[in-house]
Amino acid sequence: MKIPEMKIPDLKIPELLRRKPDFGLPRLLKVGDAADCSALHATGFAHSWSASEFEALLSDPACLSVGVDAKWGLAGYLMSRVASDEAEVLTVVVAPALRRFGCAQRLLLDHLSRLAARGVAMVFLEVDAENEAALSLYRRNGFEEVGRRKAYYARADGARADALVMRRNLG
Ligand SMILES: CC(C)(COP(=O)(O)OP(=O)(O)OC[C@H]1O[C@@H](n2cnc3c(N)ncnc32)[C@H](O)[C@@H]1OP(=O)(O)O)[C@@H](O)C(=O)NCCC(=O)NCCS
Repeated sequence: MKIPEMKIPDLKIPELLRRKPDFGLPRLLKVGDAADCSALHATGFAHSWSASEFEALLSDPACLSVGVDAKWGLAGYLMSRVASDEAEVLTVVVAPALRRFGCAQRLLLDHLSRLAARGVAMVFLEVDAENEAALSLYRRNGFEEVGRRKAYYARADGARADALVMRRNLG
């Protein structure tokens, strides 16, 4: 008698059952967060920034740097630089295991209200034209595409990617 072949069920945990992490309230980052910022940055970008580069950003009064903590440490952050009534988003990153739980959304909303409170009327940013996650985050928060920089980013494999310039009015 031929024994029927057994089908092994796919035991991957469905996305819906992933437990939502406990995020803290957004807080201003300090120079002492530089090493954690650098380590987190390396998880999101091919060309990461060193701890000393973050120290410079975190001690620059023109930069606004806000992070969110999870139980084990820094979960994500968003940094911008303010000049007069304009601001530019410098970077945003969330730890890979904590993505898709609303952390970046929380950081962005918090950031935009802090910038508005400082009198910022317009926020700009550049984003890799193929970064679907970031594009979706910015579009759903009212950023519009206002330009394209051809072959602006260098990928780890040597290829080049366009940057989209996006803008959101806070007025
Ligand atoms: C982009 C990034 C910051 C998003 O962080 P996140 O905490 O996972 O985002 P959130 O859970 O807050 O998602 C908010 C919105 O962003 C969009 N989004 C986030 N991740 C997405 C994905 N993988 N695919 C499509 N849309 C995505 C969605 O519109 C989402 O809203 P929804 O959940 O209602 O669909 C994160 O993927 C990251 O750190 N990536 C690496 C670094 C990077 O690319 N930074 C942006 C450089 S400009």
